Amino acid sequence: MNSYRVAVIPGDGTGPEVVREAVKVLDAASGKHSFKVERVEFDYGGERYLNSGETLPDGAVDELRKFDGILLGAIGHPDVPPGVLERGVLLRLRFELDQYINLRPVKLFPGTECPLRDKGPEEVDFVVIRENTGGLYSGHGGVVYKGTPAEVATQTAVETRFNVERCLRYAFDYTRRRAAKKQLTLCGKNNVLVYTQDLWWRAFNEVGEEYPDVKRDYAHVDATCMWMVKNPEWFDVIVTNNMFGDIITDLGAIIQGGMGIAAGGNINPEGVSMFEPIGGSAPKYTGKNQINPLAAICSGGMLCDSLGEEEAARSIEASVAKVTPRLKSLAAGRMGYSTEEVGSMVADAL
Ligand code: IPM
Ligand code: MN
Repeated sequence: MNSYRVAVIPGDGTGPEVVREAVKVLDAASGKHSFKVERVEFDYGGERYLNSGETLPDGAVDELRKFDGILLGAIGHPDVPPGVLERGVLLRLRFELDQYINLRPVKLFPGTECPLRDKGPEEVDFVVIRENTGGLYSGHGGVVYKGTPAEVATQTAVETRFNVERCLRYAFDYTRRRAAKKQLTLCGKNNVLVYTQDLWWRAFNEVGEEYPDVKRDYAHVDATCMWMVKNPEWFDVIVTNNMFGDIITDLGAIIQGGMGIAAGGNINPEGVSMFEPIGGSAPKYTGKNQINPLAAICSGGMLCDSLGEEEAARSIEASVAKVTPRLKSLAAGRMGYSTEEVGSMVADAL
């Protein structure tokens, strides 16, 4: 029997509540599909930082590197200044574990309300592949004359051919495997960002030559937002830089029914990957048993896929699709069921 070691970081706010349900469903899936998941829990996040002054202890990254996968709840605490935990935990893990792909499916599940008029599960079903280690997130830049009228601040988008090319290769391979329309849309801003986006554009077309079966398409990022609302069915797979990907996937989350269902993976195809609901720690719902665990559960499904347990991944998705029509809403507090009940419903459906 295959056995996997998974690091679990429940994190802050509602993170622990949703992770508990994701683990419940993972256990049901591993029982059904005959594999074993050994879990080790880590307390990284806001509480630990407030108690110890430390975001990630020395050696944490090397320890996590030894796992087959990581499941993350949420990082973010109302008493910690913005940026500390994001940079100290989440971005640090993405960067140091070289999780260079951020994979974010935008899928409307059956029976759920779409904020777009006349659009249903048929129309809202695409995937965003966000480059996850470069661009405006690289931390390149600085400030001089701070606090004076002469202050100068820069934040440079660092796009390397290496980063861009490996992201594009992943995207082309993914599009080929997904076998829907086999269409990969590069989302950029060629008309303004003439250096960085030119690099993306050339790499996109050069790598694309190796994938004659994948149709290449291009849209500016502003237009992408418009089409995502107007004609989401035009998209199959979108590949984009780190910042644009961050922004368009919040829009994606809303058109698929909200943060309660939006899952994502930070993927290092050659290393350890980390899966997380993309919604954040939702502090005001902490401990209320009202938050929607489906995003975390779907993240667990994506984790199974990355472990090579594709059937388990498919059955988790199918079970979520059986449960969504029974919920009143995907929004926290309005599901008609508690966090725990929704987790159990998915586990039972499995
Ligand atoms: C996300 C989040 C993060 C990001 C923040 C918390 C650093 O918004 O995962 O999309 O910007 O990548
Ligand atoms: Mn974001």
